[in-house]
Amino acid sequence: MKHIDVKDIFSNKDYLGKSVTVCGWVRTARDSKNVAFLALNDGTTLNHLQIVIDKAGGKTLPEQAGKLGASIKVVGTVVENMNNGSPEVNAEEITVLGVCPPDYPLQKKFQKLETLREMPHIRVRTNTFNAVFRVRSIMAASIHRFFQDRGFIYVHTPLITASDCEGAGEMFRVTTQDFADAAKYKTEEEYYADDFFGKKAGLSVSGQLEGEGMAMGMGKIYTFGPSFRAEKSNTLRHVAEFWHVEPEIAFCELPDLIEIAEEMIKYIIKDYMEKCPEELKFFEERFEKGLTEKLKNVVENDFAVVDYTEAIDLLLKADVKFEFPVSWGCDLQSEHERYITEQIYKKPVFLINYPKEIKSFYMKQNPDGKTVAATDLLVPGVGEIIGGSEREADYDKLVAAMDARGMNKADYADYLDLRKFGSVPHSGFGLGFERIIMYATGMANIRDVIFYPRTVGNIR
Ligand code: 4AD
Repeated sequence: MKHIDVKDIFSNKDYLGKSVTVCGWVRTARDSKNVAFLALNDGTTLNHLQIVIDKAGGKTLPEQAGKLGASIKVVGTVVENMNNGSPEVNAEEITVLGVCPPDYPLQKKFQKLETLREMPHIRVRTNTFNAVFRVRSIMAASIHRFFQDRGFIYVHTPLITASDCEGAGEMFRVTTQDFADAAKYKTEEEYYADDFFGKKAGLSVSGQLEGEGMAMGMGKIYTFGPSFRAEKSNTLRHVAEFWHVEPEIAFCELPDLIEIAEEMIKYIIKDYMEKCPEELKFFEERFEKGLTEKLKNVVENDFAVVDYTEAIDLLLKADVKFEFPVSWGCDLQSEHERYITEQIYKKPVFLINYPKEIKSFYMKQNPDGKTVAATDLLVPGVGEIIGGSEREADYDKLVAAMDARGMNKADYADYLDLRKFGSVPHSGFGLGFERIIMYATGMANIRDVIFYPRTVGNIR
């Protein structure tokens, strides 16, 4: 169906005076004796195109075209609105493509985000979600461009795996075994031996381990795909299926990694500010006052780099009563992370050198014997958006870390090989794609930046 995007009608003055065909959904309708107005949105812009039906001049508004949510095709001439100079279309012909009955759920002008979450397929027709998903698309392209322009190889790591990268027991199981047959087996091993893969398999929590393998031959790689976590935490920033950006870089130590992560965040944010001014203005007005200024500061200023030990000292000195007590060795809770980034530094903070006991087995052990060369990037409002580290490149130290955690080394044979055959210092991180979208848009709930959010008890 040949037609012009509404976005182009707004951005290209050449359409003035020309006859065009536009398609979209009716957002509002006003009908009077001599004239009728429709506000048409086709999803390409937040701007609604006004369609004018000159009834006095003999044009008619088909009854079904005046209903909220109806989809229509309009042929008409683009003219300039006398009052505000915006383009509008004087309709010659209106065709109803799809009628919309009165039980259309978006009858009310403002609906709570909570209500809209109950209808993911319909909420994309609101300005809020229209803006969110356009920004999501722009940011995804931006991430690819950032890495591609710097010579990183885009890698597709397996989503079904037998190894647990983060070791926190948060994997979804993948099985074709029949529940009815379960009683047949005496042990778990027997049960999985009969399963599709002949052993216990799950959905990947991270592409890192395979990504490291690829980087050990290709140099610089990145993955950008879904990761799965069976965490039962019902928070504003966790989903069971999220999109994960994971670069892995050979010949790269922790300070180099931090530099790349900071450059990447600044690049994505700057690109978003340039490409989505309309959406940014919308988020600023509706969701986060000061958003533009916040993002400008991110692009223009250095991020802080703070040692975990120093952060603990600062938290201990803080004049605040935290719900979870702080001491060296503790895993930082969201309230601590937010205090550090929101109250103390008021900008993004790379926390580095965490105690080895609270971090993963693969992280490079520091010479102090107590900490690992890990980093989390914390940002005001959202908390952790990146987790990464330099990797342990020494075979013996890696084996010791795995033994200390009681891990089955046979499951990680390929991973260990990387330390056996020409091991190199290397590093990588994981960026939670939804978390950076939250940060960039001011959306406070992760469920509002992904089309169909998967959370405990929700598989709609
Ligand atoms: O800190 P995480 O667990 O690190 C890893 O998975 C490493 N293997 C990454 C690497 O070094 N290649 O997760 C990385 C990021 C977090 O900082 C967070 O932004 C996001 O992934 N993330 C989630 N986002 C939404 N929902 C969840 N349940 C998430 N879990 C992690």
